[in-house]
Amino acid sequence: MIVTDSNRKKFRNYCKKTATTLRVSEALSGVSLGADVTIQGWVRSVRSQKENLFFDVNDGSSLQSLQVIASSSLSNLVPTFGSAVEVRGVLKKSPHPKQPFEVEAEDIHIVGECNPVEFPFKVKKRHSSDYVRQFPHLRCRTNSFSSLLRIRSEATAAIHSYFKDKGFVQIHTPVITSNDCEGAGELFQVEATCPQDSEDDSFFSVPAYLTVSGQLHLEVMSGAFSRVYTFGPTFRAENSQSRRHLAEFYMVEAELSFTQSVEDLTKIMEDMFRSATEQVWAQCSDDVDLFHKHVTPGHRETVEAMLKNRFAIISYGEAIDILQRSSEDFVFPTDWGCDLQTEHEKYIVKHCGNLPVFVTDYPYDLKPFYARDNQDHPHTAAAVDLLVPGVGELCGGSLREERLDLLTARLEAAGLEETYSWYLDLRRFGSAPHGGFGMGFERYLQCILGIDNIKDSIPRQLGGRGKSWENKQQTPRATSFGRISSVPSRVFGSRPCVKHLSTIAHWSSAPPPPPPRSA
Ligand code: 4AD
Repeated sequence: MIVTDSNRKKFRNYCKKTATTLRVSEALSGVSLGADVTIQGWVRSVRSQKENLFFDVNDGSSLQSLQVIASSSLSNLVPTFGSAVEVRGVLKKSPHPKQPFEVEAEDIHIVGECNPVEFPFKVKKRHSSDYVRQFPHLRCRTNSFSSLLRIRSEATAAIHSYFKDKGFVQIHTPVITSNDCEGAGELFQVEATCPQDSEDDSFFSVPAYLTVSGQLHLEVMSGAFSRVYTFGPTFRAENSQSRRHLAEFYMVEAELSFTQSVEDLTKIMEDMFRSATEQVWAQCSDDVDLFHKHVTPGHRETVEAMLKNRFAIISYGEAIDILQRSSEDFVFPTDWGCDLQTEHEKYIVKHCGNLPVFVTDYPYDLKPFYARDNQDHPHTAAAVDLLVPGVGELCGGSLREERLDLLTARLEAAGLEETYSWYLDLRRFGSAPHGGFGMGFERYLQCILGIDNIKDSIPRQLGGRGKSWENKQQTPRATSFGRISSVPSRVFGSRPCVKHLSTIAHWSSAPPPPPPRSA
């Protein structure tokens, strides 16, 4: 019987009573073998033969689809590629060596038709990432993007379980905040669209922004819980159109109290990277295989080498030495005091055997106000970045300045001690040495899967075809994973954007200065 719209309800009720609804992954594992089952999903391929119709159904629960066989008596209504279907039938062993089980259909219901001529993806055709990116609302129907999203989900779970196992408390840091943690002024301002009482009134009593980092909030919490982390959306209005920058991305951030050295932080970063990657490898092997076979061939070896070898640690001074001794013709200067650019990061990673490398003890003036002063010569901060193959900077972190006198002096020099009086309170009342780091989650996915363009690692859906913000940004302006700006982004006290630091945090009672308009 072909089920039509008129008896759809009857069919549903019938299925509910008699057949177990299985996910495709469950059917492929053979549960309910020989039983009446119902499968719901989208058609991934169709083959019509004289006697039988074969089609593959996928519901996103696994990379592999489930084959359905329907006799020609059932198949006068042939489901097309892309259509949504509900099939009732018997789950049987398949004679075909490539698939263990299949469903012999008794009823087929086409839930949602799909015109294969208009549908942007074609059956059995491999589409380029540039092409697929034009359809942010439909690309989850492709094999490679659905694999990416399953891996993303598993990696999220792996990171949460890593921190849970290590005794970290998860903190939901605010998305709307009034502080500019990084001090680089790369902020999106938030305002209500509905009219307020008077024209001058804004919704919040202080200028409010989308968070650029949950760090300062985590620092507050690390003063009570010792080990805390957050994993949430982060926003930066960076004027950087590259293959590794997003305006909205996810950041994993951790903060640890009673931490004495940058090495304490590097251990957690490395351990988290290994633990999450091993879990993804174990739980999503088919999806990872698809990437390493078809999307980024050869990348598996790169990741295996990362997992086998310990990450290197060098100081910023050593990194500068390596760059200066190289014969490479760098575009950006390599003098002590310059920020490391993408071309430098790439070179350093290659120099260290194409393995992840921690770079520590950056020039003090390159790092934000909270970074701990090493009080050495040349003047450095206890800060660390993790550089990885193909991506460059994956993590950034530091020990935080816990000494009240040094922190006060730094904030006073910028005229911000009142604004940050709440932050100074953390040093006044039970201050403990502490530190932390942040890891860009999309860059992590780029790193383990070899994804060239960060826009292919996030499920975005801004507007329709061709209208999304990302599509305007497809052309890289500098190197293949380049940061373009030559201006150090985190200088405190030597950039015009230092003013932005005075945007106050939630805990401050001081009235805020006007919001930043330009950097
Ligand atoms: O190095 P960042 O700016 O460090 C911080 O925000 C610290 N407050 C974190 C902390 O110590 N709690 O950013 C951390 C990481 C970078 O290493 C990078 O991987 C990622 O966040 N990131 C971006 N990822 C995608 N698009 C962007 N625009 C990014 N900006 C930073």
